[in-house]
Amino acid sequence: MNFNQRTTTVILGFSIVLLLKDIIVTKSFAQTLIPIETQNNAFVLEAEKDKDLSSIYFGKKLVDINEYKLVSGLYKQTEEYTGLANAAYTPSGSRNLLEPAITVTHADGNNSLDLRYVSHKQAKVNDNVSLLSIVLKDPVYDFEVKLYYKSYFKEDVVEQWSEIKHGEKGDVVLQKYASANLHLKAKSYWLNQYHGDWAKEMQPEEARLTHGIKTIDSKLGTRANLFQPSVFMISLDKPATEDEGNVLYGALEYSGNFKVDLELDYQDNLRIIAGINNYASPYTLKPGDTFTTPPFLYTFSNQGKGNASRKLQSWARKYKLQDGNGNRLTLLNNWEATYFDFNENKLAELIGDTKKLGVDMFLLDDGWFANKYSRNDDRAGLGDWQENKAKLPNGIGSLVKEATANGVKFGLWIEPEMINPKSELYEKHPDWVIKQPKRNEHYFRNQLVLDLANPQVQDFVYGIVDRLFTKNPELAYLKWDCNAVIYNAHSAFLKNQSHFYIEYMNGLYNVLKRIRAKFPNVPMMLCSGGGGRVDYGALQFFTEFWPSDNTDPMERIFIQWEYSYFYPAISSSNHVTDWGKQPIKFRTDVAMMGKLGFDIVVNKLPENDLKFCQEAIKNYNGLKDVIWHGDQYRLANPREGNVASVMYVDEAKARGIIFNYLVNNRYGSNSASPIKLKGLDPRKKYRITEINLFPGTSSTLDVKKVFSGDFLMNVGFNPDVNTSRTSVVLEFKEVK
Ligand code: GLA
Repeated sequence: MNFNQRTTTVILGFSIVLLLKDIIVTKSFAQTLIPIETQNNAFVLEAEKDKDLSSIYFGKKLVDINEYKLVSGLYKQTEEYTGLANAAYTPSGSRNLLEPAITVTHADGNNSLDLRYVSHKQAKVNDNVSLLSIVLKDPVYDFEVKLYYKSYFKEDVVEQWSEIKHGEKGDVVLQKYASANLHLKAKSYWLNQYHGDWAKEMQPEEARLTHGIKTIDSKLGTRANLFQPSVFMISLDKPATEDEGNVLYGALEYSGNFKVDLELDYQDNLRIIAGINNYASPYTLKPGDTFTTPPFLYTFSNQGKGNASRKLQSWARKYKLQDGNGNRLTLLNNWEATYFDFNENKLAELIGDTKKLGVDMFLLDDGWFANKYSRNDDRAGLGDWQENKAKLPNGIGSLVKEATANGVKFGLWIEPEMINPKSELYEKHPDWVIKQPKRNEHYFRNQLVLDLANPQVQDFVYGIVDRLFTKNPELAYLKWDCNAVIYNAHSAFLKNQSHFYIEYMNGLYNVLKRIRAKFPNVPMMLCSGGGGRVDYGALQFFTEFWPSDNTDPMERIFIQWEYSYFYPAISSSNHVTDWGKQPIKFRTDVAMMGKLGFDIVVNKLPENDLKFCQEAIKNYNGLKDVIWHGDQYRLANPREGNVASVMYVDEAKARGIIFNYLVNNRYGSNSASPIKLKGLDPRKKYRITEINLFPGTSSTLDVKKVFSGDFLMNVGFNPDVNTSRTSVVLEFKEVK
């Protein structure tokens, strides 16, 4: 069914428009149904006769659009006292008794808000995308909220946000301003959430929600995901598995403080209220100005977590991630090979090694800049973005030339939002730094954060990037880091400190927009001392992210697994390093599951290790199209058994790759049973071969046999993973 064939607004019953004094009270006895439908799902809103706008259905799409109106009547839950428990955007201070989506203080000091439906508009953006907007107004105050629902039909994704404005006689203070307010009905709700720290990103926890409010939030200001990202899953009735169950994925597209309240209310329904964290941030809105919230993103699947993440990954590649369906550069990074200790000769060697290894680009990391306070460790120099004359007397330009002469590209690390107190920048512009004027400074990794709320600082940060590319047009890539959180939140520029956290983010996005307007095609890695800033608010400007500084491949199997629920493989920068005890083959195989890079001392690699890497890179180049643009299936969960297995298949279901790892070293642990493949064509025949074999070893697998997709999906295939074959990479191809 195409979404064009269904009317998206259904007016039921009859309506009498009473022309009362009050402009918005078009009193009516009509029910206005507003279904937001995608290929498989429906989210249905209803404006009742008193014009409260409520959520009445969330789940699998019904065949008959007229039947949504029957849903509410079938629930005999406890009495609803307010008419607002399932509000589409819950106001506060009037009838509401639950967690609000919006709280305001009007120009006259009054704290009450009531929002009634006025009108709505459906616009078609293109064949797949539509935009619904709904106007709500307060009957008493000149105050308006416009709710937006951008729906992506094929991907079953909705982005929801709100616009808030007023025409009152003075300023209004927004005390809370959520992006979205969902309402779900089920017998039980299971939250899968994430927590972490440096080198421990994306640690999952799943639990049944109990009554009251569970909050997922951040108050870190920047690098906001360090302890907790905004991504989460809610399974309905029972925890969803990879292939079964009703599950909603949610995420705020925002890189600053966020807050997601999950309120299991007294009627046993789940209210999800998500948006910017209002912590320390009452926002003063002038008459006529508009406050726009960032989008809250959600998708729903009644076929489990795998289906939900494939939809989200495909949405991200097509609509959000910078150049999501494009190409990426494989690379050699010098961070762990040299840290801050390098000079032109050493780098020339590494550039040569880049070529020898067979990757596309050399990436110069931290330590290349600052002179008065040289950047020889992380205690000085941050902010002074001039080449360090001792290390690079001929500048970045000569390195770019060196790379070009070697037939590889050149990329550069920057951390432009941050500053060491020991820097010339700090001496020149102490007022550009976020700090409390009357308190001691407090450092994170010996550094502070620049005040991006200040337009001059925005120009400075933009200028760093602009100058680098103007001076070195062949510069091919940036790794944009962000290592500190915000302590002592205070801007010397802002008059109203309550706007600080919001204006910081507006400033950052402003800079990134300007960079993208001038340099639309430069690949950029989003890094934050690991994965402290992985979100779709930022990823619209970046081609990839750095999941974690923890590159121990055993840890990475788990970390990458969790990121893969929400982010496509093409966005995950995975580097082979010396972390962990696993052999180079294991490390490379794990890094190949996303965007491959290396951060090792190539000239110290034993001959066979180097040979292996070179061969693996060739294999990767042959298969990266499937890894980056194909469908990903998680086959065996490392948390549930001895083996982890992840598969990628191309759109034609003709070709793909399966990564298998032993994740338990106890005696006799192996892939005891065949692993069932997914997403194949049951009628097609496939041959499976093992690739990425370490020089001098041979596969234990029989490559002569051909299997049907039907067999592989119902019986499976055994990669023969065991303690002497801890990492096995399989390529499969259709046999005609
Ligand atoms: C952060 C990054 C690392 C590296 C260092 C450089 O920790 O995550 O990859 O770039 O900074 O200081």
